[in-house]
Amino acid sequence: MRKKIVAGNWKMNGSYELINSLVPALAEEAKQSQAEILVCPPSLFLGDVRRQAGERLLVGAQNCHEAESGAFTGEVSTGMLAELQLSHVLVGHSERRAIYGETDALIAQKTKAAIAAGLVAVLCVGETLEERENGRTLDVVLGQVKAVVEQLELADWSKLVVAYEPVWAIGTGKTASSDQAQEVHRAIREALAGFSQEHADAMRILYGGSVKAANAEELFACPDIDGGLVGGASLNVDEFISICRAAN
Ligand code: 13P
Repeated sequence: MRKKIVAGNWKMNGSYELINSLVPALAEEAKQSQAEILVCPPSLFLGDVRRQAGERLLVGAQNCHEAESGAFTGEVSTGMLAELQLSHVLVGHSERRAIYGETDALIAQKTKAAIAAGLVAVLCVGETLEERENGRTLDVVLGQVKAVVEQLELADWSKLVVAYEPVWAIGTGKTASSDQAQEVHRAIREALAGFSQEHADAMRILYGGSVKAANAEELFACPDIDGGLVGGASLNVDEFISICRAAN
């Protein structure tokens, strides 16, 4: 049985005020939750959030650099994230692919760097509206997944989580229906089974894109959906806790 994960991606939002109201409440929630609860605040706040998170609330970064160290002004390495006692890092978020031009090859390098540092990489994949309308959803999504997993050893898969986030559903209020999401999640798991059935069965595949309290339960009830990666709704304590409970 795969343990569910509910992850909050704050993106470039948040403040000490938000941290002080949200993190203690989530730390409490995490103590009794059957799901893993993860928060990914902006990198500037990672140390403070980690200190307030207690033992059960997981804290991750939204991005990392692929190199160990060096002359990369403004960047943060996976070793630094590990030193902060973080457990996860998002890689390949569609905003990083679209706005910062991150390629599959770069995302594979970041994933390897994250795993080498002992972090769990949350690999984000998803199609644009145009790609969906052209019938290319599975081509695009499975291509993004394979580009990374082909570069990994099977032993690394325990340090990988996949997040399917259709780009057209991010921040738009348009959630994929549970059938649409389940179809893609199943296809991802089948593609992974081409490498190893056992490892594919163990892989957590999260859904992201306008997840909220009102739709979380239906999404999380799908057989191949193992939790959510939540943007906007993760900034509201009541809403996010309701989503966490929907995963129980
Ligand atoms: P929203 O939940 O705001 O649609 O964002 C989803 C997302 O991009 C999480 O990484």
